[in-house]
Amino acid sequence: MTENPSNPTSRRQFLSNTTRITGASALAGVALPPVHAAQTNTIDVVLIGAGGRGTGAAINALSVENGPTRLTAMADVVPAKLNSSYDKLKSQFGDKVDVPQERRFLGFDAYKHAMDSLKPGSVVILGTPPAFRWVHFKYAIDKRLHTFMEKPVTVDGPTTRRMFELADLASSKNLKCAVGLMVRHCRARQELLNRIRDGQIGEIVAMRGYRMGQGGGTAPPKPADMPEVMYQLSKFHAFLWASGGVFSDYYIHQIDECSWMKGAWPVEAHGLGGRHYRGDSMDQNFDTYSVQFVYPDGTRLYFDGRNMAGARDEFASYAHGSKGSAVISTLSHTPGITRIYKGQNIPRVNNRKELPLPADPNLVWAFPQPEKSPYQWEWDDLMDAIRNDKPYNEVRRGAEASLVTSMGRMAAHTGRIVTYEQILNSTHEFAPDVDKLTPDGPAPLQLAANGKYPMPEPGVKIDREY
Ligand SMILES: NC(=O)c1ccc[n+]([C@@H]2O[C@H](COP(=O)([O-])OP(=O)(O)OC[C@H]3O[C@@H](n4cnc5c(N)ncnc54)[C@H](O)[C@@H]3O)[C@@H](O)[C@H]2O)c1
Repeated sequence: MTENPSNPTSRRQFLSNTTRITGASALAGVALPPVHAAQTNTIDVVLIGAGGRGTGAAINALSVENGPTRLTAMADVVPAKLNSSYDKLKSQFGDKVDVPQERRFLGFDAYKHAMDSLKPGSVVILGTPPAFRWVHFKYAIDKRLHTFMEKPVTVDGPTTRRMFELADLASSKNLKCAVGLMVRHCRARQELLNRIRDGQIGEIVAMRGYRMGQGGGTAPPKPADMPEVMYQLSKFHAFLWASGGVFSDYYIHQIDECSWMKGAWPVEAHGLGGRHYRGDSMDQNFDTYSVQFVYPDGTRLYFDGRNMAGARDEFASYAHGSKGSAVISTLSHTPGITRIYKGQNIPRVNNRKELPLPADPNLVWAFPQPEKSPYQWEWDDLMDAIRNDKPYNEVRRGAEASLVTSMGRMAAHTGRIVTYEQILNSTHEFAPDVDKLTPDGPAPLQLAANGKYPMPEPGVKIDREY
């Protein structure tokens, strides 16, 4: 989605390219010769980063219904994480989890051993914190493996540029690459997009996104006996090099889904934010963020993020058009419960107890419930592309989504307007030697003389975030 909708020619092109977004699985019933899985028909999968989401992605990989899959190796840096993930997967999937002790790898080079155990055309899940994404993806390409990588895929400008190059390299080798922005695979959101493209809410004139929850991204002081690197990784949402902080890790979804509906990436951002109640937490996040993203035609996305106990929760995104309005997300990612309303009065939905929603005279359309989870759709679509050799590479747009999210984060952290070009060409790489990290070596972030990690200071630190 690199088209610029402010340019009439490219906008027309964009609209004609995207007027009917069909689910990638719409072609699933068409008989095409299977390519990579020809010999055994079973696609082998390995998991790098066996935490919460990595394990969830492995569950989705083993649950696809469009052909057999098998988990054959796992890698992590924390034994307890790897063991509990293995136990969970084994108890749920039995023989589909064929990961004997000798294929459970530990350490910062474990990813290599896990990928070395695969034959080309198999699939690797990259489920670590995003700092390692380019390192692991590069190795997967060398090994000619298809990849499923979690979002964000980058946390700064320099690694985004690197990821763009890797994305092209993967395409040149016909590797299929998925990025865990699963909402893109949600059939309810795809149908909403079709309707927006068809003009059902008119021109989008504003969008709103909210990710406001009871907390997140804090870090108590490091236990004395824990190596610095392992501490920072164990609290990766706390440190910008590891995750991009809560801003990148949590907020990317709303920024991505709104930009998808708009059909463009924002070209600049300005934002506010501050720490209010973080006490002795060692993390680099703010409690509140409020960022305006500006699209090429001047349309704004108003995004609010808050991590604050006792305050109101909201986890939703909305598009306002010249003829009506749309709900892109309600109460989290899934189910989407996408809707279109006459006018601009979108009824507030506070919690799941209010579902199903009561009849509303302004409701024009709602996607029928229940919906299948987009976490499963994204795997069905990836496997369909692998088995039927369809072009499939989400890494460039995943990197673009990560980059514009970093643009908003940097705007709030520096107190300056940050443009797409500025963040793209930024020279501040947060963890330049992340590919050489060792558990006992120096961490990418060092304590300052005051015993704290360097913090963003809007208006004071203006050329880099910390
Ligand atoms: N798409 C979504 O909705 C969604 C939801 C949750 C998390 N995520 C993403 O998934 C990723 C992981 O998040 P999580 O919540 O599962 O965290 P987690 O801490 O539960 O899992 C991360 C795992 O990676 C391991 N790890 C860290 N560095 C490693 C390395 N160099 N090599 C191998 N293993 C390493 C950790 O020990 C841990 O087990 C993040 O990028 C996050 O944004 C996406």
